[in-house]
Amino acid sequence: MLQAGSKTFFHLLASNQTLKSFASRYGMRSGSGFARRFIAGESVPEAIEAARQLQAAGRSVTLDYLGEAVGTVAEADAATRAYLAVVEQIAAAGIERNISLKLTQLGLTIDRATSVDNLRRILDLATARQFFVRIDMEDSPYTAVTLDIFETMWQQGYRNVGVVLQSYLRRSEADAARMNALGARVRLVKGAYKEPKEVAYQAKADVNAAFVRIMHLLLAGGTYPAIATHDPLMIDATRAFARERGIDGARFELQMLYGIRRDLQQALARDGFRVRVYVPFGSEWFPYFMRRLGERPANVGFVIRGLVSERGH
Ligand code: FDA
Repeated sequence: MLQAGSKTFFHLLASNQTLKSFASRYGMRSGSGFARRFIAGESVPEAIEAARQLQAAGRSVTLDYLGEAVGTVAEADAATRAYLAVVEQIAAAGIERNISLKLTQLGLTIDRATSVDNLRRILDLATARQFFVRIDMEDSPYTAVTLDIFETMWQQGYRNVGVVLQSYLRRSEADAARMNALGARVRLVKGAYKEPKEVAYQAKADVNAAFVRIMHLLLAGGTYPAIATHDPLMIDATRAFARERGIDGARFELQMLYGIRRDLQQALARDGFRVRVYVPFGSEWFPYFMRRLGERPANVGFVIRGLVSERGH
């Protein structure tokens, strides 16, 4: 988790249009693009190739066609149609059938009904093609409605879908208990957005303590939970709890982001843990990329080095 100040700074930068157009121009250049460490590519074939390599190295994948906060019904429809095409391309490629998406990419910023209709279109195809679909969790104005939409889909019989809970939110323990009772699959993360103290813990120690409490709840009483973190302390706590309770490694998975702590991903897979890598791709990579910078300001040095070498080409 980052310092609150740097998180705010990077969230502000993320809304800067000049920076966005500059980054979009240089960030994904073949070879030297500075965003390539975190983004698998702008096209579906690039993402599929990255997934193939990860699977060949013994990891599982979930592919995320990046996009969020679309402003019109037409854009939400275009994003949905693009996602449907992605599902078909993944199925045809023969890689693992697992995707992640955001409801604001499907129109939740416009209205609930639009995003529900679009989500249902994707879930129907995903069911037919035997995909698992993870609904990512966004910032706190969307928490309740995202969980509500998820639960509606669940009541309607969709079972190939799961949610994400963020340990920085004060409400998440109660949500985890409710998801366990439903039998729903949860991915646990610390949380990537800048949130006010009324809804979220601000101190790293509190976020970590909540992460461990929720991890215990999910491992002990959840359905195939995903513990998604690069934090060795959280991973050690997960391993220790599973060992202590005799919870088999096949009953949960660890998840990490593409390009982050590849050494740890490899070591855990070697130790026999199920490790899934979240593989983001697509042209709308800028907000995701800025969240990754905000998490670890040292990454900015990496970007600057990339830019300097870019100028040299
Ligand atoms: P923490 O931030 O404490 O970092 C621990 C260590 O991990 C650092 O010391 C560093 O070594 C490494 N690390 C972490 N971030 C890094 C970075 N950007 N670059 C380089 N090293 C880094 N969030 C959300 O709000 N909604 C969501 O749906 C998801 N989905 C999601 C899926 C998956 C698979 C993962 C792994 C994460 C998410 N997240 C997310 C992001 C999550 O909330 C969180 O912001 C990041 O995982 C960073 O937190 P850590 O748990 O890694 O711990």
